Amino acid sequence: KKGGFAHFMLKEIFEQPQAFYETIRVGVDDAVRKVIRSAEEITLVACGTSYHTALIFKYLAEPLCNIPIRVELGSEFKYYPPPLRGLVIAVTQSGETADTMAALKMAKAHNCPTFAITNVQGSTVTRIADTTLMMRAGPEISVAATKSYIAQLAALMQIVNIRCDGAFDDMLAHAHLAIDEVLLQDMADAVALCRTAEHVFFVGRGPFYPVSLEGALKMKEISYIHAEGYAAGELKHGPFALLTPETPVVAVCPPGATYPVMVSNIKEMKARRAPIIALGVKGDSELEEIVDIFIPIPDTHPMVQVLTTSVVLQLLSYHTACALQCDIDKPRNLAKSVTVE
Ligand code: M6R
Repeated sequence: KKGGFAHFMLKEIFEQPQAFYETIRVGVDDAVRKVIRSAEEITLVACGTSYHTALIFKYLAEPLCNIPIRVELGSEFKYYPPPLRGLVIAVTQSGETADTMAALKMAKAHNCPTFAITNVQGSTVTRIADTTLMMRAGPEISVAATKSYIAQLAALMQIVNIRCDGAFDDMLAHAHLAIDEVLLQDMADAVALCRTAEHVFFVGRGPFYPVSLEGALKMKEISYIHAEGYAAGELKHGPFALLTPETPVVAVCPPGATYPVMVSNIKEMKARRAPIIALGVKGDSELEEIVDIFIPIPDTHPMVQVLTTSVVLQLLSYHTACALQCDIDKPRNLAKSVTVE
């Protein structure tokens, strides 16, 4: 069943180019297109990894679509609801997460148009939502979400593309090739640093901030190492106190508007003697020179870098958890879908 892979998680990581490609290839129907085109504001509701893809969507979509976008945790929504207006989108792999369902039902009761992004045909969320956009990841067995995360990003990027009249057609059609390129990335040096650490920080800016949150969640979930995701500029507002030569920082640092300030953040962390593992584009010798371990990603469109950096962080957690001989597909205390509020 694992197709020659040691764990379902690794198999599912390797299925990501296909999960992304299929979600884009199948595309969306006219009902979805109409709802997305007419939305004047969007609230996304989700938990865990799905919450992180929703946050990435906000960073990508808000400047391009020029509409307000809110992202809410399912578990908070029902008790501390945001303004109940505009399109409400539930993002959920399983389509069964109780907190996300409760939030969507509440939005519906307040007459908001409701929309689901899910991986499971016929799941509860598809019965609550007015409109559904299916992601095409196929069944995900490992408790840690990987290919469903990438397929959610495919679905959410399609929404951005619809709002931008197909401006990203070409990029979306080829993004799976870049994901493919990072799957065999050698993680040995980075794993050697992380496996003995008690704490690991993950930092990034813009969409790479939620990419970092997801990197930290994955590390906690499967390797049991305490990890924190942070917006890179925030470390100096407290967490610097934790930086030591034994506390690696994983910095997601692709080119773009925030690159110079990321580089100066990295220098500040180095000055506090934290070892730095940096993800940057291939050939970025400036970055490579100042960090301890440099992990190259392909030089692509920034949206594609969201995908490739996320996959590298999945591999880092996976290989670290393997080195620590953790129960990767069934981490302790966790279930694949959380059906109680
Ligand atoms: O099925 P859902 O997307 O609603 O699940 C939400 C979370 O429980 C889920 O993403 C969880 O955080 C993953 N196990 C993380 O890898």
